Amino acid sequence: MSEFALRGAIYSPIADPFFEPTETCAVFESDGLIWIRAGRIHALGDYRAVKDLLPDEVEIRHYRDSILLPGFVDAHIHYPQVEIIGSYGTQLLEWLNKYTFPAEAKFNDPAHATRIAEFFIAELQRNGTTAASVFCTSAPGSVDAIFEAAQRDNMLLLAGVMMMDSHAPANILDTAQASYNDSKALIERWHKRGRCLYTVTPRFALTSSPEQLELAGALMREHADVRLQSHISENRAEVARAAELYPERANYTDIYDHYGLLDQRAIYGHAIHLSESELRRFHETGANMAHCPTSNFFIGSGLFDIAKTRDAARPVTVGLGTDVGGGTSFSMLQTMSEAYKMAQLLGISVTAAQCYYLATLGSAQALGIDDRVGKLQPGYAADIAVMDPRATPLLSLRANVAESIDELLFALMICVDDRAIQATYVAGELAHVRDG
Ligand code: GUN
Ligand code: ZN
Repeated sequence: MSEFALRGAIYSPIADPFFEPTETCAVFESDGLIWIRAGRIHALGDYRAVKDLLPDEVEIRHYRDSILLPGFVDAHIHYPQVEIIGSYGTQLLEWLNKYTFPAEAKFNDPAHATRIAEFFIAELQRNGTTAASVFCTSAPGSVDAIFEAAQRDNMLLLAGVMMMDSHAPANILDTAQASYNDSKALIERWHKRGRCLYTVTPRFALTSSPEQLELAGALMREHADVRLQSHISENRAEVARAAELYPERANYTDIYDHYGLLDQRAIYGHAIHLSESELRRFHETGANMAHCPTSNFFIGSGLFDIAKTRDAARPVTVGLGTDVGGGTSFSMLQTMSEAYKMAQLLGISVTAAQCYYLATLGSAQALGIDDRVGKLQPGYAADIAVMDPRATPLLSLRANVAESIDELLFALMICVDDRAIQATYVAGELAHVRDG
């Protein structure tokens, strides 16, 4: 494997700026060097200091005026929904029936799955995203397709077959037992193969029978280190329907809790309309959430209260997700911008440090992969997004008057432009180059 170094400004979150002072939560080098060996970061720091250690023959790629960031980590995204991104005029339950379920049925054809999976992996890279937790469909071939595409580029990907045995069209339904068997076979085939990690994926309580949720719990008990992803409390009609389907449970969170699906390995998308006792239960169990603001605005689901969720008295770990195709962009910068605006509507101004943290280390923590990605540190994967703060005339004009790295990063995230992602490295290989 190759050995080389990247020169540029370095910015990396290293701690949680919701709880620690901003200054101590990120490292910044205005002229830095990252020495990469065999796909990992070997050393990094001030250019001169690291240059002294670097053997003369090691190539230095100089990204003059650019910022080297940890690759973004998308905590919640649906690859089968790429084609229906930006579908007009509905809220969650109608949106699922009208657009999503027909789009997902197309993945019963493996050739379609392969074509969209390859597009999807390339699109992540075009946006500087180097790891993601991905929903597939109930067709096991949809999981093979996405893991095969990810593995080709050595991407860290979490995914699993969608478990859904009720209240949806027959051509995308499984049965409780079939979903258990499929999940088990896919865990054996894919979990920890390369950088692939398996994620048990019951879609949500509305499309799973009690028997299926029971078997999802069994999968989690039988496989100590697989993850779990699902949805919770995104839309008020959804919450009411969950109560009708599971009348014996105290609330929506209690449904998942009852079946053993609420622990540190689990991440739930949306989590907007939760009561205080439900938030407390997330905190107690260590279960995580994926905040998906572009989706919540677009489908009209509601406002996720980041301050309440992260309340220091009982904080819940939160990552940031695009939720494409309910979400409207692959760009984690765009998603950060919308997270900022959503908080503004609730009277809270989240900081640039908090937004970059959520999109990198925060998502990595929520997915249980922060021991290998989410920050730039020796031993971590060389998953790196190169951001060009002067990618357009407008960005350049704005960058000229920025007085600090935080001000610059904030303006870049608000005035988001996909030209700002100049290059993306995945496991130490150049995976995407803007001008290439
Ligand atoms: N809840 C259950 N399934 C889905 C989905 O595919 N997208 C969104 N946004 N919410 C869901
Ligand atoms: Zn989703």
